Amino acid sequence: MNTDDATNSNAPGASRWMRFFPRNLISQAGLMLAVVAVGNIVVFTIIDMISVRPNPYVGILAYMIAPGFLIFSFVLIGVGYWRDRLKAAHGQSSYPRIDLNDPRQRATVFGLLTFLVVFVLISMAGSYKAYEYTDSVQFCGQTCHGVMHPEYTAYQLSSHARVACVECHVGAGATWYVKSKMSGLRQVFATAFNTYPRPIPTPVHNLRPAQDTCEECHWPRKFYGAQLKVFTHYSSDEKNTVRETQLLLKTGGGDPATGAPEGIHWHMNIGNRIDYVAADEQRQVIPYIHVQDLQGRVTEYYASDSKLTKDQIAKAPRHRMDCIDCHNRPTHVYVPPDQAVDQALLGHKIDASLPFIKQQAVAALTASYKTTNEAVQGIANSVQSYYEKSYPDLAKTRQLDIRNAVEEVQRVYQRTTFPEMKLNWQTHPNNIGHLYSSGCFRCHDGQHVSPEGKVIPKDCNTCHTVLAQTDTTKQMVASPGVFQHPVDIGDLTQVTCADCHTGGVGP
Ligand code: HEC
Ligand code: HEC
Ligand code: HEC
Ligand code: HEC
Ligand code: HEC
Ligand code: HEC
Repeated sequence: MNTDDATNSNAPGASRWMRFFPRNLISQAGLMLAVVAVGNIVVFTIIDMISVRPNPYVGILAYMIAPGFLIFSFVLIGVGYWRDRLKAAHGQSSYPRIDLNDPRQRATVFGLLTFLVVFVLISMAGSYKAYEYTDSVQFCGQTCHGVMHPEYTAYQLSSHARVACVECHVGAGATWYVKSKMSGLRQVFATAFNTYPRPIPTPVHNLRPAQDTCEECHWPRKFYGAQLKVFTHYSSDEKNTVRETQLLLKTGGGDPATGAPEGIHWHMNIGNRIDYVAADEQRQVIPYIHVQDLQGRVTEYYASDSKLTKDQIAKAPRHRMDCIDCHNRPTHVYVPPDQAVDQALLGHKIDASLPFIKQQAVAALTASYKTTNEAVQGIANSVQSYYEKSYPDLAKTRQLDIRNAVEEVQRVYQRTTFPEMKLNWQTHPNNIGHLYSSGCFRCHDGQHVSPEGKVIPKDCNTCHTVLAQTDTTKQMVASPGVFQHPVDIGDLTQVTCADCHTGGVGP
């Protein structure tokens, strides 16, 4: 084929449609590419529509890659024609003369216009599909499976497993959509070139404020009142002694219209506004808090143990407190091994009559492993060999119970710890409560004082009252008032629970 033939396409006698067949290599290549791309789009779209659980890559091919090639092919065809025109023009006016009275030209123009309209409609449908696709849980959670594996695994086990990633991470409206797609594009590159951080850091700095995400479903003015929550733990002794605490959590509410503003949801940004300064990336250390109430009265709290000067605090960036400052793990919950094993024992997935099983399970989960496979192997070895050494008879008679326990511990590991992404309960702590990490005690530690002498309370009855708990003689007793710690550690308001309760090996 010869590109110089191009001028012949205007030769009289050529059939009307043949005149559109490109006579130059660039446009011909473009045309071929277009045919292949359309074929691919059709095939992959059909696969995506008829399969029940389509492979995530099918969507990428159908709605992103193939259409990309299609657009590129049109560019090629255009460039080819344009070069022809330049050559044909030879200094004449480069625009063609259109005469709609000429039946042949009229047919050509209408043909082209029809094609354009059809193309635009198809590409609109295509873009919509691409838009829908990049917003799907499948795209966010599975396509980059290695990267998002921890977040996706925890998400599937949470109460938000049916809420799409984008409902919390993007929300409604075009601005955030574009913002998220721009940062998404960066992430696609980071994934492709394997330059993403491990673990994916938290908090998410460009996370949309909760007002536009959580509050689309959860009404901040809802008044919860007091809620009963039961906590069950197993001790690391031979009998795996069970201990229960029944707490009445004073969740309350923040809106005078629905109930007296009180309790935990008092910080709802309705009657007041709380801003704070964090000293670390993870926002676990909070040296300064600024509270402003409806009347405009301001109270400032300074951490008495902070090394930051007032000047540094004045210059530091401030965060406005919202739902996510407490509910930072509404869906990606990386349960500490201690708590995860308690749940497995409570759910009878692990037999609590196996001696020291709580202690051994937590120890196996907490040991350091480089990969998940190594962990699965290591857990089996350590639990199995413990019983063979310490309880040789039992290792024979209760083989099945031990094997079931091992398998459950392996599953617990895979749900909660992700060595490939260097992620676990310690890298991504939960801010609800205060047992395994500072949580509420980031501010409610009794050390945050205002110049007038007000203290953010750490009193044990500020947030909950104990209805009943297993006492030191292992009996369930009603209403001891405040929490009785199972071993004497002195004044509870003077300790930091997470110092001893690390979530791993220990109490
Ligand atoms: C119920 C709301 C919600 C849903 C649904 C949700 N996320 Fe998140 N996500 C959050 C919050 C809140 C954070 C942590 C924010 C913080 O601490 O700044 C987060 C953090 C993350 C992080 C940072 C690492 C981490 O664990 O903190 C990644 C990555 C992530 N989410 C991915 C996803 C993916 C993928 C999906 C869907 C499979 C998803 N999210 C669904 C609310 C949600
Ligand atoms: C698309 C709607 C939707 C969005 C957005 C949403 N949630 Fe939820 N959330 C729900 C539903 C539905 C439930 C109840 C699930 C159930 O009980 O099975 C729930 C349950 C909860 C619970 C109680 C259960 C638990 O896991 O402790 C909390 C707390 C919660 N959401 C916080 C949040 C926070 C914080 C955000 C924002 C990061 C958020 N939700 C965003 C729909 C949503
Ligand atoms: C000061 C910290 C804090 C803030 C801020 C906060 N919450 Fe809560 N919220 C809690 C605690 C603590 C509970 C009690 C439940 C628990 O401990 O799991 C709770 C309970 C809830 C529940 C009920 C859970 C259930 O199991 O019934 C929902 C839903 C909820 N919060 C949503 C929100 C939303 C939405 C916002 C933002 C508008 C918000 N919370 C702000 C601490 C907070
Ligand atoms: C960023 C700091 C901060 C964090 C984190 C925080 N609080 Fe508070 N909280 C405050 C401040 C400030 C006050 C108001 C103290 C005052 O001026 O009386 C307060 C007051 C309260 C009150 C008393 C409300 C009343 O009736 O007067 C409760 C209950 C409470 N918080 C519960 C919690 C719980 C539960 C958590 C953890 C899930 C938590 N807070 C986390 C700063 C914080
Ligand atoms: C600022 C509010 C606040 C204060 C002050 C507070 N707690 Fe709590 N505490 C909570 C919340 C919220 C939870 C529930 C956490 C959850 O839902 O997982 C909790 C849970 C607990 C639990 C059950 C934990 C478990 O996993 O078994 C115990 C025990 C407890 N608190 C004891 C205390 C003691 C003792 C004090 C006094 C030193 C205290 N709390 C002070 C907010 C508070
Ligand atoms: C000095 C270390 C230390 C501190 C600080 C500490 N604990 Fe404990 N805690 C222990 C020990 C030891 C046990 C007994 C563990 C066992 O029997 O297996 C225990 C047991 C518990 C239990 C019973 C469940 C279990 O894991 O066996 C609860 C609930 C508990 N502590 C709550 C708290 C709370 C809440 C705080 C903070 C107010 C706190 N602890 C501070 C050492 C500590």
